[in-house]
Amino acid sequence: MKSAFAPGRVNLIGDHTDYSGGYVLPMAIQLGTTVTFEPRGDRVILRSGADADPADLPIEIDNPSSVRPSWARYVAGVIEEIQPVSGGRGSVTTTLPVGEGLASSAALEVATAMALGFAGPPDELAVACQHAEQRAVGVPCGIMDQLASVSGVEGHALLIDCSSNSVKPIRVPRDCEVVAIASGEPRALAASGYAERRQECEKAATFVGPLRSAALVSLESIPDRVLRRRARHVVSEYQRVIDFANHLRHGELRDAGELMYESHWSLRDDFAVSTPALDDLVARLMKTPGVFGARLTGAGFGGSVVALTRPGVLSEGRLLKPSAGARLL
Ligand code: GLA
Repeated sequence: MKSAFAPGRVNLIGDHTDYSGGYVLPMAIQLGTTVTFEPRGDRVILRSGADADPADLPIEIDNPSSVRPSWARYVAGVIEEIQPVSGGRGSVTTTLPVGEGLASSAALEVATAMALGFAGPPDELAVACQHAEQRAVGVPCGIMDQLASVSGVEGHALLIDCSSNSVKPIRVPRDCEVVAIASGEPRALAASGYAERRQECEKAATFVGPLRSAALVSLESIPDRVLRRRARHVVSEYQRVIDFANHLRHGELRDAGELMYESHWSLRDDFAVSTPALDDLVARLMKTPGVFGARLTGAGFGGSVVALTRPGVLSEGRLLKPSAGARLL
């Protein structure tokens, strides 16, 4: 029997930058998903504590997005990607909240792939699970969530360059806390404008070349106002990620926090992926003594806000610890 645990992630800064080959700075968290699996037979049958209906799937899958129950689509996506030699039986348990923007689907994919016997290097595991997610929900997601789950390092956030998928661990100072506060609006990636935003970025790139190497001033030449704003978020966010990583390295938490607010405003005004509930949360946190910074985290359209604070100042939300990546148990 094989058991694997894969963590969720919270993104400290750098949203909607991964799919244009930019920078992100997530950290793997202590909450995650465990899959146990005993190979036998030619069907994969996984039971989950969260749903009475199991994932009951053949090992040849055509269309993961049509599978039921809906959580089984992620399992189906993984089966299609990694093509296990045998079926088997097992279970899924999780300590992650679903739909709060802490990458519960990535954790399920990574733990499933490992328990089903995926044996390649970590970056290939992340890419296989990214493809599984894309096939499962039909959303062209980037690599951040799966790579963060696979590559987590205890006590560190991860500066990821999504043009090469290289990961640089950055120590999170001890004199701060990372807290996620749910907005109460579940985030439904498929139903959101995620794919539309990605297309807008690609369209903007047809005017100025790859956004990853575009200068902020060059974006003025994009004729369409909406596309110009989308590109301005992405290009300015790349720089915020680099600056944030430097501040974190030097323990400059106020400066790091300021960049989180700027990132939120950019996601709200230029990228248009925030919601009134997320904006209210950030505005309230901004007035709370001991909070260095806060912003929406992940895709937006609901989900959670992440805050960087002095220890012990918030009684709400989930305290998240920078944690190790996915592993066999
Ligand atoms: C989702 C996607 C990621 C990333 C974020 C936004 O979490 O799965 O690839 O694009 O949204 O930063």
